[in-house]
Amino acid sequence: MPDRPHRKPHIGGNWKMNLHHQDAAALAGALADRFDAATTDAVDVTVFPAFPYLAAVSSVLCEKGSQIAVGAQDGYAEPNGAFTGEVSMSMLKDVGVRCVLVGHSERRHVIGETDELVNAKLHAALDAGLDVILAVGEKLEQREAGKTDYINTGQLGYGLAGVTDEQMSRITIAYEPVWAIGTGKTATPDDAQKAHVVIRQAVAFMFDQAVADGVRIQYGGSMKPANARDLLDQPDIDGGLIGGASLKADDFAGIVDAAK
Ligand code: PGA
Repeated sequence: MPDRPHRKPHIGGNWKMNLHHQDAAALAGALADRFDAATTDAVDVTVFPAFPYLAAVSSVLCEKGSQIAVGAQDGYAEPNGAFTGEVSMSMLKDVGVRCVLVGHSERRHVIGETDELVNAKLHAALDAGLDVILAVGEKLEQREAGKTDYINTGQLGYGLAGVTDEQMSRITIAYEPVWAIGTGKTATPDDAQKAHVVIRQAVAFMFDQAVADGVRIQYGGSMKPANARDLLDQPDIDGGLIGGASLKADDFAGIVDAAK
């Protein structure tokens, strides 16, 4: 049996449209105090505050010398121009962002983003020198119709179109079954592992085995300290993208500890 490839776990805290200035800065400070260098050497940690607080969170983390990275929950595909309300990838970089989340189910299914737009945003982020988390995942009716793998590999294929092998080292994939997000329902470790294996096989098909062995695939959907270890123990689950449980320092720290 070949050794399991070593992939540094990546834990993301997606704060969504929560936490105003003081609370966002306080949470960032609390996480910086808890996660020493040994923790961030063992686990990549990224927090995703709302747009108005990216700079504030970034400066709190910077002042504390923390290696926790700041991510943005979205970013626009065009570099500049007449796009009222949008924020470019280089603007995000300018305020300390290192990573951008694309393809989150709330953007796909609530805001109505297409696979083409997800792919354009992914390329814009890479071109701006940012890392990317690309989220994919099936809805409940798709799972019940036996279409889980079809949906995940389809979103993956569209999302990663035109990406080079070299760029894949800057991309983390998040498998987030839509029915598990914010619902308290979690995929069983076994079901999540199976979906991750299929996603990794699809990456091997699109790129090669070395890229597939290296890419990190996070699980997202009601991950919390109580279930994190069982999920993260699975050989193909390389971290988590956390919503609700990322809003409390204790809960988020419990998950990061489980990933160590
Ligand atoms: P949840 O959200 O942990 O609240 O289910 C996960 C996500 O949307 O990334």
